[in-house]
Amino acid sequence: MDVKQLVADELEAARRRSLSLLEPLPDQDLCAQHSPLMSPLVWDLAHVGHYEELWLIRNLTGAPPTCELYDDVYDAFKHPRRERPSLPILGPTDARAFVTEVRARALDVLDAVELSTDLLHDAFVYGMVVQHEHQHDETMLATLQLRDTRYPRLEPPQPAGDPRVVGEVLVEGGPFVMGTDLEPWAYDNERPAHVVDVDAFWIDTAPVTNAAYAAFIDDGGYERSEWWTPEGWAWRNEAGLRHPEFWTRDGMGGWVRTRFGTPEALPVHEPVQHVCWFEADAYARWAGKRLPTEAEWEKAASWDPATHRKRRFPWGDEPPDDGQANVGQRRFGPDPVGSYPQGTSAFGCHQMIGDVWEWTASDFVGYPRFASFPYREYSEVFFGPSYKVLRGGSWATHPSAIRTTFRNWDYPIRRQIFAGFRCARDAARP
Ligand code: AVJ
Ligand code: FE
Repeated sequence: MDVKQLVADELEAARRRSLSLLEPLPDQDLCAQHSPLMSPLVWDLAHVGHYEELWLIRNLTGAPPTCELYDDVYDAFKHPRRERPSLPILGPTDARAFVTEVRARALDVLDAVELSTDLLHDAFVYGMVVQHEHQHDETMLATLQLRDTRYPRLEPPQPAGDPRVVGEVLVEGGPFVMGTDLEPWAYDNERPAHVVDVDAFWIDTAPVTNAAYAAFIDDGGYERSEWWTPEGWAWRNEAGLRHPEFWTRDGMGGWVRTRFGTPEALPVHEPVQHVCWFEADAYARWAGKRLPTEAEWEKAASWDPATHRKRRFPWGDEPPDDGQANVGQRRFGPDPVGSYPQGTSAFGCHQMIGDVWEWTASDFVGYPRFASFPYREYSEVFFGPSYKVLRGGSWATHPSAIRTTFRNWDYPIRRQIFAGFRCARDAARP
């Protein structure tokens, strides 16, 4: 297909998703702040439009902004999320009109532009804007999950999973290629491709399930400081952590988890989600394991030891259809372990893409010879020991915004994101 048509279709799909997510909510809900961690939903919507105007109109044509003031209120760096409700932001009707207007102009520019060099090489800047909108859709889903009222959902039936998908797989030691030079819409932080030599290690076949995590709780996981780092234990005390976010006791020794405002018996075979890095790290120590490094995770997910080639996705180079991964918000939650046998990696890991973001042991830093492109505020300003890397995307991540090289990051205390983990451990050397 023609690249411009493909770009227009991707833009259109992202917008359909954003608007349909917000469609069920009354204006009051769109303007409210449901958690100090999150923006009002109507801020996310207009911010997406502002970003699109900046990158797909102003930076390509030199056209002036719709409104100078938006450069302040919709710049994520100018005001932290907790301040955003008090900013002079557009209301729902005006925000929808703004994003629609910007889109019409962006499509006119797309018609006229020559997709060739720099920002436009491989239509990079369009990929950046498409991924940005989908990332904010996932952020809006986290906000909707934090809201205390029921969010209406239409969901296809859930796959059954497979109880035989347990245990660990061995990943042989040796070099592999980490990151990418070839992926056209990869962010600066995924570049450049570079060889990393990894010692042999074991990694869990599947993400840690709710049942396994509940066993950690039952065994006093939250009561015994020995499983926690000093920082993790301090945070457990300060925040009163006793279980994952959105879990409550059912009064009979079991658990209820609330999903988009609906209480449900804890589904034991689903990957655990809404745990912070400190909880994941403590669980791993309790299990006699550790979190995988980012390099280990990427090797287990992407490397084909038979051909010495890297795969864009665990199963190959083709993006997922329904058979390989739980992505793109088909359902509003993870699927049971073993639900995607067609999506395994060459080493035999299941569900590395989709279901839950997976915390890794690694801090978010630039790869060797990292060069910021096209702006420092996407990744570079976050490099350092404050953020931990997450990999693989969640059920809420759109296929265009995930691949085996994609890197996400957050503070080790954050739980509102759709994050879980799998464990790893060293393999004895021969
Ligand atoms: C890559 C998910 C950490 O949401 O803060 C959105 C993506 N960057 N707008 C975020 C992003 C600018 C970013 N994460
Ligand atoms: Fe943004």
